[in-house]
Amino acid sequence: MAILVTGGAGYIGSHAVRALKKSGFETLVLDNLIYGHADFVQPDELLKGDLEDRQFLDQVFQNHPIEAVLHFAAYAYVGESVANPSKYYHNNVGCTLNLLDTMVKYHVRHFIFSSTCATYGEPLSIPIDENHPLRPINPYGRTKFIVEQILDDYDKAYYIKSVRLRYFNAAGADPEGGIGEDHTPETHLIPLIFSVAINQLPHISIFGTDYPTHDGTCIRDYIHVTDLADAHVLGLQYLQQGGKTDVFNLGNGNGFSVKEVIDVAREVTDKEILAIEAERRAGDPAELVGSSKKIKEILGWSPKYTELKTIIETAWQWHKSRFNHETCNQKY
Ligand code: UFG
Repeated sequence: MAILVTGGAGYIGSHAVRALKKSGFETLVLDNLIYGHADFVQPDELLKGDLEDRQFLDQVFQNHPIEAVLHFAAYAYVGESVANPSKYYHNNVGCTLNLLDTMVKYHVRHFIFSSTCATYGEPLSIPIDENHPLRPINPYGRTKFIVEQILDDYDKAYYIKSVRLRYFNAAGADPEGGIGEDHTPETHLIPLIFSVAINQLPHISIFGTDYPTHDGTCIRDYIHVTDLADAHVLGLQYLQQGGKTDVFNLGNGNGFSVKEVIDVAREVTDKEILAIEAERRAGDPAELVGSSKKIKEILGWSPKYTELKTIIETAWQWHKSRFNHETCNQKY
């Protein structure tokens, strides 16, 4: 029996596949490779296809004995979701329904879902715990919120038990190498800072310096992707042991401002990294820091990489190995 990992050729999904294997699970990756990377996956375990295609999904479940699903496949650009909500609702909600309906048909009852701190919207209190009201402020966050509600209904009607993991800011890369953060387009702070460090970008823009935070820049809770991946394995084992449908935050509980992240990256890379103050980016809450007390207590999750410096070091090792060879061909 295999664990089906949708989006398993992506950044977080590929780390989850690695974590599953380390815990002795057999894995199958379903990815359309629009954003995923074929070289993040062993060729013999990759099923290339789209969740939009119900016939394809039917074949996957018919031809492979699947015991559970980890569902990472989704679009995740907040700005794009505002400009093109249709794309996000069709993909993040519609395709998830296709997947869940196929699970119902083939009696697969365990589901781990990639949710997000974007379901909380503008926080009323910090740190955010799981009881904080869900008031997403953009279509991306709303798609994840809707799926969480669908999962409650599918539990009651079809007995699908799910663990929803609300991620804060995933960062870093597996120190063993080979996989890491590589988005096209790249919008995330840490890889963009590294692009400056290796002369592929002239500077990093700091989006907003007038937020009500200690240095005026946005504060985020950065969590190492390997720790994030491990939580999925714990969630799966919890369901396999009869755990009930539940939701857990996944963060480190420490907030770092954009300026602080840039400073740590300067230290790690030993590069100057030019930073330029810019306008606020639409839809960015001032501060997002989560409490992960619940997942520690119930699933026994214990993060290994709690220091921002260590997280950034692993990301830097990966970034250099993936991108640095291209610097000689770049303009800057
Ligand atoms: N930032 C900059 N300059 C940049 C890029 C980002 O100042 O060039 C800032 C952002 O404004 C933000 C912080 O750095 O304050 C982190 O930005 P990221 O884009 O790296 O991450 P986000 O916090 O926007 O996004 C993350 C996840 C999303 C999720 C969101 C929830 O990547 O999938 O958290 O708010 F939706």
